[in-house]
Amino acid sequence: MDGMSAPVRENAVPPSRPLLSVEGVTLEYKAPGRVVRATQNVSFDVWEADRFILLGASGCGKSTLLKAVGGFIAPREGRILLDGRPVHGPGPDRVVVFQEFDQLPPWKTVRENVAFPVRASGRLSRKEAAERAEHYIEKVGLSRFAEAYPNTLSGGMKQRVAIARALAMEPRVLLMDEPFAALDALTRRKMQEELLALWEEVRFTLLFVTHSIEEALVVGNRIALLSPHPGRMRAEINSHEWDLKSGGSPQFQAAASRIHRLLFEEAGAADGASHE
Ligand SMILES: Nc1ncnc2c1ncn2[C@@H]1O[C@H](COP(=O)(O)OP(=O)(O)OP(=O)(O)O)[C@@H](O)[C@H]1O
Ligand SMILES: [Mg+2]
Repeated sequence: MDGMSAPVRENAVPPSRPLLSVEGVTLEYKAPGRVVRATQNVSFDVWEADRFILLGASGCGKSTLLKAVGGFIAPREGRILLDGRPVHGPGPDRVVVFQEFDQLPPWKTVRENVAFPVRASGRLSRKEAAERAEHYIEKVGLSRFAEAYPNTLSGGMKQRVAIARALAMEPRVLLMDEPFAALDALTRRKMQEELLALWEEVRFTLLFVTHSIEEALVVGNRIALLSPHPGRMRAEINSHEWDLKSGGSPQFQAAASRIHRLLFEEAGAADGASHE
């Protein structure tokens, strides 16, 4: 595994421990008469304000890992620590944005959609929750649509609402499972850039799942490569290896080719025999 050192941050006291630690996590699904192993002994650390990407082929266990971090699935082996404490279930400190456009209750306006979970969590008064919602609706550029219902919005706009709703919870980690996969290519690219601009402002910590190498390179500062089913850590790549701002740069292309090699060409050799 390469590039495992913690990222160096300027103008800040370095945190003494990772925000999120995934330690030797094996995840399984139990179906009648059989067990499906989704990931095998996966370990990685996410530091505060990281944009950490889980990248791998379909079926390698990315969504399952995200569900485990979300607290919806307990590890078969290993453990997941948030702020040094084991994760035992879902909590408002971890919020998920999914791929599907229908994750928003259709009977609530944009404003209600964003404010509701904050209010329901009981941490803020009605007024404070409303102010918090306005703030994040504005951050995703939807102030003019605050009174609109989800079915009147485009796919990209719905995802912006979902992002505002998640950020309004001010979670310790924002979990995103292929949030832009159902969008057309141009909107997808725009949303990636918007997410980065939002990150520049808010500096949230992001754990982001994708199977697109390009998306991983655009969105992430660190990328964990997972081998095919069951997912194991193949390598970790850090952002100093490419130029974030220029997708067509030689560094970006070189990083993309290297990831492609690690994921697909060297996969068989490194994995050895088949699993399960
Ligand atoms: N509810 C379930 N019951 C049984 N097996 C499951 C279940 N959900 C996922 N799996 C299996 O676990 C493995 C990992 O699935 P997972 O959805 O985490 O992969 P993924 O990397 O997110 O794939 P994709 O890129 O297609 O979304 C796959 O073999 C899948 O078939
Ligand atoms: Mg998935």
